[in-house]
Amino acid sequence: MTDTRLLFAPVASGLAGVERCILASADGQHPMLGEALRYVFDTRGKRLRPALVLLSGALGDYDEDRLILLASSLEVVHTASLVHDDTIDEAMTRRGITTLNSVWDRHTAIVTGDFLFAKSAELASKMNSVRIMRMLSETVMAMCSGEMRQHAATNNWEISVEEYLERIGAKTASLFAMCCAGAGVTTGQSEAHIEALYTYGFNVGLAFQIVDDILDFVADEVAIGKPAGNDLRHGTITLPAILFMQKLPHGAPLRQRLQHGEDSELAADLIRESGALAEAREFARRASSEAIQALAAFSGGEAKASLVEIAQYLPARSV
Ligand code: IPE
Ligand code: IPE
Ligand code: MG
Ligand code: MG
Repeated sequence: MTDTRLLFAPVASGLAGVERCILASADGQHPMLGEALRYVFDTRGKRLRPALVLLSGALGDYDEDRLILLASSLEVVHTASLVHDDTIDEAMTRRGITTLNSVWDRHTAIVTGDFLFAKSAELASKMNSVRIMRMLSETVMAMCSGEMRQHAATNNWEISVEEYLERIGAKTASLFAMCCAGAGVTTGQSEAHIEALYTYGFNVGLAFQIVDDILDFVADEVAIGKPAGNDLRHGTITLPAILFMQKLPHGAPLRQRLQHGEDSELAADLIRESGALAEAREFARRASSEAIQALAAFSGGEAKASLVEIAQYLPARSV
């Protein structure tokens, strides 16, 4: 694996500031809430979203204090969505350790997730920008709408690639787009550059979620630190499954059985053998190229080079 810390090197000091800011948000709360928050923050994620904020900000008039607030706010939104996602999915592990919902209980996890959504708004509000607050609200609304689209399509093996892309655009790519465009707004960049950053972030987010969905079929659970195989088990039909269905003849008995919620374990094996995972990687590669193209608007420099490398790395990642 490429060590993402190398790609984040140009903004290492900003990332250290984000860690301090996030950890401080556990201070001064009810002891149980404080303990739950420290538990969640001690489990280090990849910090991809804060790195994207800082690197995108480095393309403009870099203001580290304000960018740290934005990056922390968006990592906290991400953390809130994971705490709720794991509670909904009844997942036992995340980032290699036991989830809040399993080590404590659902009640603690739901309240901690709610707290984190509010904390993220509080952090962003310290930037005194109505535009950032509006973008943040729209992002969280889009994430909820994407989650609802996914829920509504449970066990629906007939969904189209377009519907899938709209779903992951809302549930995942919207936050990546916010990271990059929000940094553009924060660092006084032109509207054209903010739009280019939005396109970059959105496409990076698509590539990221497509690969996450591939890894659910093939990853080593220890390496990714979370359960694998959960998507089909929960009736979440992702890109590899959709591409596999497109190859399955219309009258195939398996098609009928899958519609009735049967044989999903068998389907997972067939999907792995069908070439659908490699085809899905192609979709991730195309999104990654779109992301890199959007950066043509910016002149060179180490931050731009890192953004290009991140987009190049994501379609091939294995963790
Ligand atoms: C997990 O995101 C949720 C998805 C959008 C697939 P990450 O894989 O970035 O999670 P952490 O923060 O590194 O744990
Ligand atoms: C991402 O989707 C979850 C959010 C955007 C909140 P997944 O359901 O694929 O996330 P993992 O695989 O549990 O990390
Ligand atoms: Mg999940
Ligand atoms: Mg997943």
